[in-house]
Amino acid sequence: MKIYTDINDFVEARSKISSKVALIPTMGSLHEGHVSLIKEAKNYADLLIASLFINPKQFDSSSDFSNYPRNIKNDLEIFSKNGIDIVFAPEKSDIYPENFTSIVKIENLNEILEGSFRKGHMDGVSTIVLKLLNLSKPDYAFFGEKDFQQLKLIERMIIDLSIKTEIIPVKTVRNKNGLALSSRNSLLSKEEVILAEEIYKSLLLGIDTYKNGIYDSNQIIKNIENYLLKFPEIKIEYVSIRDKYDFIELKHIDRSFALLIAVYINEVRLIDNMICDLK
Ligand code: PAF
Repeated sequence: MKIYTDINDFVEARSKISSKVALIPTMGSLHEGHVSLIKEAKNYADLLIASLFINPKQFDSSSDFSNYPRNIKNDLEIFSKNGIDIVFAPEKSDIYPENFTSIVKIENLNEILEGSFRKGHMDGVSTIVLKLLNLSKPDYAFFGEKDFQQLKLIERMIIDLSIKTEIIPVKTVRNKNGLALSSRNSLLSKEEVILAEEIYKSLLLGIDTYKNGIYDSNQIIKNIENYLLKFPEIKIEYVSIRDKYDFIELKHIDRSFALLIAVYINEVRLIDNMICDLK
């Protein structure tokens, strides 16, 4: 496994590769969710590039950025053990040199939900992902469905900006009690992990409500909110029901949808979602 921190060296190395290339963009602090991205990438490409860059532009507060878990030694071991060929771990000052002023805005998707609660977050994501795609020119890039709005935003950007990379979504990986794996889970105490597992249960409740014949989104959302109200340590930011494909808010469910949630477990912010496919 080769590790590049210098952008020019990386670009030069990439230019010499003629086989199919997959990119797995990460911010490190890897877990089984990232491993599943890598495993999926192996089904598509001969050469796997993983990027490791904690993107400051997608954090809406400096404390969230500085508290974001970091474990580079462990990350490199996981990359190496799982067959990554190249790690691209650039310096912040090389990605965003002095006078960097560009922002990629994917309108309609950048200011709702995640973008509304975390100002500038979605713009930070689209900006760094476009940059990573430009530098690594992958045939395929892999993103987890856990960050569903991020996935929709990137899919839109690929179409709108005629980018020649195919985006491959990968299913959310959960712990045995349903908690979606996330780097932020490492910030939870044991008791908070048990509380966080209620997020999954609340989503299941939402899907069950729908399956029992309630198609009114407000009623489903109310059910979820009432369920989570029992846990004072859980503070809901949003629960939303959106079209699975174009991410339009659904008041009445008549097509495949994503049920999305963001909560705080005490100080730790977590997001999750469940997709329901209608035949
Ligand atoms: O999902 C993530 O880990 C990040 O948002 C990404 C896609 C690596 C961009 O920084």
